[in-house]
Amino acid sequence: MTDHWNALEALARDSGDRSILSLFDTPGRAEDFSAQTGDMLFDYSKTGIDAGIRDALIALAGAAGVAEKREAMFTGEAINDTEGRAVLHTALRNLCGDPVNVAGQDVMPGVLATLERMRRFARGVRGSKITDVVNIGIGGSDLGPAMAAEALSPYHDGPRCHFVSNVDGAHIADTLRGLDAKTTLVIVASKTFTTIETMTNARTARAWMTDHGGDPAAQFAALSTADDLTADFGIPPERVFGFEDWVGGRYSMWGPIGLSVMIAIGPDAFDAFLRGGEAMDRHFRAAPFEENLPVLLALTGIWHAQVCGHASRAVLPYDQRLTKLPDYFQQLEMESNGKRVQMDGTPVLVDSGPVVWGAAGTNGQHAFYQLIHQGTRVIPCEFMIAANGHEPELAHHHQLLIANCLAQSEALMRGRSAEEAREKMRAKGFTGDELERQAQHRVFEGNRPSVTLSYPLLDPFTLGQIVALYEHRVFVEGVILGINSFDQWGVELGKELATSLQPVVEGTAPADGKDGSTAQLVGFIHRHRDPA
Ligand code: F6P
Repeated sequence: MTDHWNALEALARDSGDRSILSLFDTPGRAEDFSAQTGDMLFDYSKTGIDAGIRDALIALAGAAGVAEKREAMFTGEAINDTEGRAVLHTALRNLCGDPVNVAGQDVMPGVLATLERMRRFARGVRGSKITDVVNIGIGGSDLGPAMAAEALSPYHDGPRCHFVSNVDGAHIADTLRGLDAKTTLVIVASKTFTTIETMTNARTARAWMTDHGGDPAAQFAALSTADDLTADFGIPPERVFGFEDWVGGRYSMWGPIGLSVMIAIGPDAFDAFLRGGEAMDRHFRAAPFEENLPVLLALTGIWHAQVCGHASRAVLPYDQRLTKLPDYFQQLEMESNGKRVQMDGTPVLVDSGPVVWGAAGTNGQHAFYQLIHQGTRVIPCEFMIAANGHEPELAHHHQLLIANCLAQSEALMRGRSAEEAREKMRAKGFTGDELERQAQHRVFEGNRPSVTLSYPLLDPFTLGQIVALYEHRVFVEGVILGINSFDQWGVELGKELATSLQPVVEGTAPADGKDGSTAQLVGFIHRHRDPA
């Protein structure tokens, strides 16, 4: 692998001064540096990647064993080898039902039976007195369904959906206020059914329902791998939807964790979401690397983060309903690929995953794009735009949205030269030193890379494609980095310390052994806390 990384670094040095715009002197640049699957177009022509760099990136992916590991994942090998688990979220959307074996056992009959139970339950809830569904979960048991419920709001014809994640009492208090306990369904979503935030919120919701005339025994459901714990909580088995440990939390919205979305949009639309994911799986598994969207998206990520050293990337969906997508990608990418060692325990050879952040366009343009255009750090951008909106009567809004999206990627690449800036200022009557000073503030260096994903309409199928595309992108990047993308040991230490600090904060244990800063903060909070 070291040879491949060295070769790529040499290519980055050699192409360092070349403008992205100049690459378009080669006829066919846009088509050649784009790929399509179904109706989805991925354009990476506005990056510094040329044919030689692409070949070197593909060779890197080959040497890392992407093809072999991809097959190992789809066929149920225990590739999450720090936890000894297979990684089979793809089985949850394998609607064709082709066998998928884990330790010699076909998991598909169980997956399809659970899906059918979910459909029946969702239809029952949609046809009942339930007006509101509250999903209580955090991380992968919240971000995916919350994102999808908002993304697919045009298809939403079931009860209203609410999502509570934070242990901050403000979250559940604000959510429950105004809901009718007699017509609310609470779904406790937790793979482990031990997560302190979720269980604290679930107990508070249960007390609220009892106090306000609802019936928790009939109005709670659970989504979990731990059926003993759901029973202890008092949720009857017919309202428990289980899944196996080979579904990672941040990859789990395709199965029971997606129940709130299914209730909101109906089983048929949820099936379309699954079919979108399934279609991307087929493409990822079969398409040659040169035409493979997840592989190419991963390789642009590797080029920008690990080879060129850009420490963050912005996800910029030009779609108001994808406002939560950057948060969802943050967990998907940063919890998966924010690791310090390779599979064998030795340090990673290059930097691990970048910081992922972003916001829906055009709002970001009036907030942080200034830094993306003129700041001293390069931030590769990932734009998304649909050809159509869901509001035909507001088509002129959508044209403006598209124009803004395309203008940003063009501006980032093209920039504005000092001479063009001077020309503008001359036209405004500036001269001499003041002209030069004013012009410098209006220079855009340009040459800032971006990729754009485009599709006809953000419908359930397309959302399924997008989520699966990014899941596989994270997988490919993880394989190239040599890390395990499917564990998350980095979240454990904070959890352990929070548990040990709880009695200190409550005042039932001394702050002995804590560092001076932590002890000082506890002391300050004790002195300023209102008496109970
Ligand atoms: O703390 C991290 C994490 O384990 C995530 O990986 C997971 O999505 C989240 O907590 C919630 O876990 P659970 O679904 O078990 O409550």
